Amino acid sequence: MPALVLLGAQWGDEGKGKATDLLGGSVDYVVRYQGGNNAGHTVVVGDQKYALHLLPSGILSPGCTPVIGNGVVVDPAVLLSELSGLAERGVDTSKLLISGNAHLITPYHTTLDKVSERFLGKRKIGTTGRGIGPAYADKINRVGIRVQDLFDESILRQKVEAALDSKNQVLAKLYNRRAIAVDQVVEELLGYADQLSGYVADTTLVLNDAIDQGQVVLFEGGQGTLLDVDHGTYPFVTSSNPTAGGACTGTGVGPTKISRVIGILKAYTTRVGAGPFPTELLDEDGEKLRTIGGERGVTTGRDRRCGWFDAVIARYATRVNGLTDFFLTKLDVLTGWERIPVCVAYEIDGKRVEELPYSQTDFHHATPIYETLPGWSEDITQAKTFDDLPKNAQKYVQALEEMSGAPISAIGVGPGRDETIQINSFL
Ligand code: GDP
Ligand code: IMO
Ligand code: MG
Repeated sequence: MPALVLLGAQWGDEGKGKATDLLGGSVDYVVRYQGGNNAGHTVVVGDQKYALHLLPSGILSPGCTPVIGNGVVVDPAVLLSELSGLAERGVDTSKLLISGNAHLITPYHTTLDKVSERFLGKRKIGTTGRGIGPAYADKINRVGIRVQDLFDESILRQKVEAALDSKNQVLAKLYNRRAIAVDQVVEELLGYADQLSGYVADTTLVLNDAIDQGQVVLFEGGQGTLLDVDHGTYPFVTSSNPTAGGACTGTGVGPTKISRVIGILKAYTTRVGAGPFPTELLDEDGEKLRTIGGERGVTTGRDRRCGWFDAVIARYATRVNGLTDFFLTKLDVLTGWERIPVCVAYEIDGKRVEELPYSQTDFHHATPIYETLPGWSEDITQAKTFDDLPKNAQKYVQALEEMSGAPISAIGVGPGRDETIQINSFL
């Protein structure tokens, strides 16, 4: 069982950090393959709480080597501050490996992200403002700066010049902002080179060798399936591929090496930022989910939009990721509701639709068709086995499993590592 992918099955914030951390003790490498510091993964270890943005959650497991793959966009200032923050708390960060082919988020990407969102006004995406979209745009446009460029001043300067040539025109003429000086950017980036050089490696080679030697590699997704630029609710998505295929392109490990794909699935649904969300609750149930679930963004502090579980989305996640398992999180948050609605299909222009519509128009018109399941009132945070759960909680899980298309192999009943019911082993 050498390589596994762990990814978000909904719109992010499903509890990927906790799930990765739980596995961290049994795997040799934990690898981020896409996204950047738009992610916010909370990991609770004993009485300690960690908020990770760019580093893989495996960094908290001493035996595990954390890797930032080529598909990630790296803001070096954020990376260094995250590393020093962890080091101050006694976490050993020395094993980190960073792909030299990962792209950098520079100050002009962050500026462009913020001004372009402002410019969009009502049509904004609601990005995290971390420069993610502009950095990926430059990568695809072949004017990006890579980690390895930090170590060749001449190449770095030429690339920054080329990138800023047009961007300064846009900043000044379109957005009415001051132009950004090439020297200033080059100087700032060169300032990171010495601090990062020890971490940079040919991570594709390292990971393939590790898999060939039978070591266990876990690919940790950021964001979620419906935020995928190809398979998500475009254009209200992030600019990378959190879906399972992204683990291959974002690390240089072939699909034949991946044996298991675990979808992290919240027992209800949340979303941050703009875009359609059929089961969104704008009433007191939504407020209750937000309060009990602590649904506030780790990265931006924004309130998360909350709604009931959507089985259409879960089925879609199974399909586009080839999921082998689900890890159902935050079941404990649903304790106390007398009845719990679950969306089993959509109604679109008077018709019942079982699968996620591929057209944006249809998705905007989708209204949920609910089935209502009986709730439970008993505290479940101490449950260690499936049998410890009250009957109605068991039925809720079984119903979700039947609707979602893959076995639920673990259930989260609290934020801590131990607050997990393991049904099937992941390894
Ligand atoms: P990620 O981005 O997918 O890693 O998820 P976040 O960390 O942004 O959000 C998930 C939140 O739920 C975090 O605060 C976790 O500590 C918390 N969490 C994860 N699993 C559970 C669970 O089973 N029960 C409860 N109550 N909280 C959980
Ligand atoms: P984790 O890894 C939830 C959302 C933003 C916005 C859209 C595009 O913690 O699950 P971007 O800054 O990526 O260009 O923003 O994607 N978004 C997330 N929502 N969890 C995340 O990460 C997210 N990362 C980006 O809110 O709607
Ligand atoms: Mg998060």
